[in-house]
Amino acid sequence: MIKVAPSMLSADFAILSEELKSIETAGADLLHIDVMDGHFVPNLTFGAPVVKAIRPYTKMPFDVHLMVTNPGDYVEEYAKIGVEYFTFHQETVPHIHRLVQHIKQCGMKAGIALNPGTPVAVLEDIAADLDMILIMSVNPGFGGQSFIPNAIKKVKQAKLLLEEVDNTSAVIEVDGGINDITCVPIKRAGATVLVAGYAVFGASNRAKMIEAIRTN
Ligand code: DX5
Ligand code: ZN
Repeated sequence: MIKVAPSMLSADFAILSEELKSIETAGADLLHIDVMDGHFVPNLTFGAPVVKAIRPYTKMPFDVHLMVTNPGDYVEEYAKIGVEYFTFHQETVPHIHRLVQHIKQCGMKAGIALNPGTPVAVLEDIAADLDMILIMSVNPGFGGQSFIPNAIKKVKQAKLLLEEVDNTSAVIEVDGGINDITCVPIKRAGATVLVAGYAVFGASNRAKMIEAIRTN
């Protein structure tokens, strides 16, 4: 029921395919892929060519988190690569309804991410159409930051919102500062997909850490 999505941001990029094998063997459910543009967030990572290059090296479904100012420009490209979730930030897009429909028409699941300073209420009129609500529990841009506890309240609000609109299939994902301790209140609040970068890739035993995040 609880899924763990290690964030590739904390992998050793020089040996990426080995890192992917390692977390897949360790029991990861999804691969969380942080695409950053150096504009929306103060960091630059990689884009679709890298995501395409790694697709054949793992069976894990791809959970792409776009931290870019123009996510709509990349929908077709990611759909062609074969990604499961295409998640963009509410703060970047004026026409979120149009973009969500486009993502789904292209055969992907649509997610919307909210920065720590953005209220869940902005999703009221799109919640019925979403496959994922992504609550950021750090300010996006970097791995290894500390968990912001206000995310717990927002997960509860997201859960209520999905119930109100009768959306039983959407998942609530939380991203940032998740480890074997911070996962506890966040799961209790209703999150079912937990992203963890530093905690998983930095662990001496990655399988144990994934299992701890799932079951603690
Ligand atoms: C932050 C990214 C996160 C990040 C999580 O901008 O969206 O996915 O890599 O990393 P940790 O788990 O290390 O906070
Ligand atoms: Zn992320």
